Amino acid sequence: MTAMTGKVTLVTGANSGLGKATALGLAKLGARVVMVCRSRERGEAARQEIIAGSGNPAVDLLLADLSSQAAVRQLAQDFKATYPRLDVLVNNAGGVFMSRSVSADGIEYSLAFNHLASFLLTHLLLDVLKASAPARIVNVTTRLGNTVAINFDDLQFEKRPYNGLRAYSETKLANILFTYKLARQLQGTGVTVNCVHPGVFKSNFGSEGMPAMMRVLGALFRPFMAEAEQAAQRVLYVVTAPELEGVSGKYFGNRQELTSPQQSYDEAAQERLWQVSTALTGL
Ligand SMILES: NC(=O)c1ccc[n+]([C@@H]2O[C@H](COP(=O)([O-])OP(=O)(O)OC[C@H]3O[C@@H](n4cnc5c(N)ncnc54)[C@H](OP(=O)(O)O)[C@@H]3O)[C@@H](O)[C@H]2O)c1
Repeated sequence: MTAMTGKVTLVTGANSGLGKATALGLAKLGARVVMVCRSRERGEAARQEIIAGSGNPAVDLLLADLSSQAAVRQLAQDFKATYPRLDVLVNNAGGVFMSRSVSADGIEYSLAFNHLASFLLTHLLLDVLKASAPARIVNVTTRLGNTVAINFDDLQFEKRPYNGLRAYSETKLANILFTYKLARQLQGTGVTVNCVHPGVFKSNFGSEGMPAMMRVLGALFRPFMAEAEQAAQRVLYVVTAPELEGVSGKYFGNRQELTSPQQSYDEAAQERLWQVSTALTGL
């Protein structure tokens, strides 16, 4: 894989699962890695492991609860105060939440954390990404059925009964619509944006609040799941592959472009999501 010496990279949710494995992979390639975590304790423990595992001391920690817009704004400010450039932004943090709750900003939590956090953080870091071009943004999403669609009439599950898996699917689909529209906006800037399905792998994903049946199924399938390090290879490919220089607005699986749900290609839907996200983040 291409060496990343001299590159500054930022990975969200970097103390566990895919984010940690991606941060380790980037550190092994010689990049400076800025880990974004919400817990100082878990973040610092992972930072030490990544330094030991990579032999690269250039691994830093920034703290932010990404479900809070004030925290995301503070994070962007903290990043810019310390680092003069940003070559790679990996929007990885995400999760599934089985009961409905709202963020500190009063927004349904899955929407706030899985989509609006990366929408806002990316916007706040675009100037530094553009100034560092060529730069790459990678949004971690998932594999979704072709007919999954964002319900724009009830984005926050205020009218329909809350369903955690449904909220997860719609917000991970939002990652894809966001990627496609942002890629068009970034044409000619030297900044590319793609999204990745990392496969199914072992992590802390879904460890909280899952019904007993899902936990049993998870435990049964766990031995057949990939390790997070394998999943991270998919992300690292999109981050580093020389053949992807200039490639933008694509959805990748295992080094191959995938087809995303029908709605993701609808430019009117992309525009609608963009408008709503702009309003909800006060951008
Ligand atoms: N696991 C899979 O099979 C799978 C499949 C497809 C896609 N994905 C996607 O892969 C990505 C990573 O998931 P994972 O499986 O690696 O899950 P994970 O092990 O649960 O890691 C999630 C990371 O996000 C952090 N995080 C959670 N809430 C946060 C908040 N409010 N603010 C800041 N950070 C927060 C977690 O920190 P704490 O340790 O503090 O909670 C952790 O570092 C997600 O986007 C997920 O949708 C996963």
